[in-house]
Amino acid sequence: MVNVEAKKIVKRACCIAALGGLLFGLDQGFINGSLEFISKTFGFTTSQGESFASIMLIGSIIGALSSGWISRTIGRKRTLIIAAFFFVLFSIWGAMTDTINILFFTRFCLGLAVGCASFVVPLYLSEIAPTRIRGAFISMYQLTITIGIFLIYVSNTVIGKYFQSWRLMLLAIAIPALVMFIGVLTIPRSPRWLILKGKEQDAREVLENTRETQEEVELEIKEINQSIENSKKQGGWELLRKPFFLKVIILGMLLQCLQQLSGINSVIYYSGQIFKVAGFENPGIATVVVGLVNMLTTILAVKYIDKWGRKPICYFGLTVMAITLIVAGILFKIQEGGAILGGFEKSLFLFACLAYIFAFAISLGPIIWVICAEIFPLEGRDLGMTLTTATNWIFNTIVVRFSLSVIENYGGSTLFFIFAACCILGFILIGNYTPETKGVSLELLEMNLKSGKKLKEIGQ
Ligand code: BGC
Repeated sequence: MVNVEAKKIVKRACCIAALGGLLFGLDQGFINGSLEFISKTFGFTTSQGESFASIMLIGSIIGALSSGWISRTIGRKRTLIIAAFFFVLFSIWGAMTDTINILFFTRFCLGLAVGCASFVVPLYLSEIAPTRIRGAFISMYQLTITIGIFLIYVSNTVIGKYFQSWRLMLLAIAIPALVMFIGVLTIPRSPRWLILKGKEQDAREVLENTRETQEEVELEIKEINQSIENSKKQGGWELLRKPFFLKVIILGMLLQCLQQLSGINSVIYYSGQIFKVAGFENPGIATVVVGLVNMLTTILAVKYIDKWGRKPICYFGLTVMAITLIVAGILFKIQEGGAILGGFEKSLFLFACLAYIFAFAISLGPIIWVICAEIFPLEGRDLGMTLTTATNWIFNTIVVRFSLSVIENYGGSTLFFIFAACCILGFILIGNYTPETKGVSLELLEMNLKSGKKLKEIGQ
């Protein structure tokens, strides 16, 4: 008998959990458009403004690092509840405060929630979604991040224009946070986590509600049990001594480095400044357009990731990103030589930037998160995702912290050429070391990894 309700329940759970991604995006994009108002209220110096912008990223690193342990101990669902609660509490508290220290503290705590969500949401999605649609559900998480970034660009622009109030900008974030908080109270617990904790009966109930047929339920329970059996002896940090695990951890961390060193957040945070340096008169509009292209393209990615496979899309994305970065870099170089960019060059620059965003959003944006949620064996999934997510945040911080000074001291061309070089190096990583995981069950990936197959071949 086919359980017709299953799909609906999984979809609903995934939508609610993916709100964590929306809040990630809202908080990530918040600085853009709000900082000038906050600086006015508190009389920030430039350096205080910069510290305020980056304190969330530091919270995110800590949040990502600690959420592996938290979600293993108390479960994915309860961790999501705590993250959602933090989003509500610290957005409202931050919006109310008149004290700089509390403002910094609340922003840091929002960072904890963002880091935590960036870890637990893809993990939960990979565990609640059936194999055949897993990729699409995890990339839905990426979609919600991009929707968040776009919405906050629009909301900050509108609130900035009509109310000039950063407090309202922050309060706007509390609304989806509250929806997430109420929603996560109702989602099913992760079946994998339940079995890991010896609660097979509870896991069976969840699977019976979320899988279409009884065969799927039995098969999944068997596969999860098998992989737990195989690995009960060791877990956590000891695993790092196992060459198969070390290999896959290094791969995940390098993939996250690649995602960040391809330069995306330089554009997400500073598109305004970049367009200004390139001589655009209305750089503000570019910010909203960048957010829009990022979001719309991710919708395409969600649709096709399980059809085309991860690796072909990455090759396509890296090629377009490298070319467009080089084109934009050359245009910057011409301008640095003293020339003023004419209409054609400016259009070309805009086109290159938008094509770059398109290429990222269809490839590295969602796919790196998808692969990192798939490649780790069950007993090391928490640790694996903790380390890879923290790597993402660390390199995000580095890029955001240094992009503007590289532009100031060495020119925009240098920055873009560095990112292009990273994309080119990315071909080696994807081509020689990354497995194709499309349509492969997590358990098969795990078995192949442990049997000593080459990383590139564990999906076959
Ligand atoms: C990255 C973020 C980035 C976002 C842009 C995500 O996959 O991890 O750092 O801001 O994509 O859409």
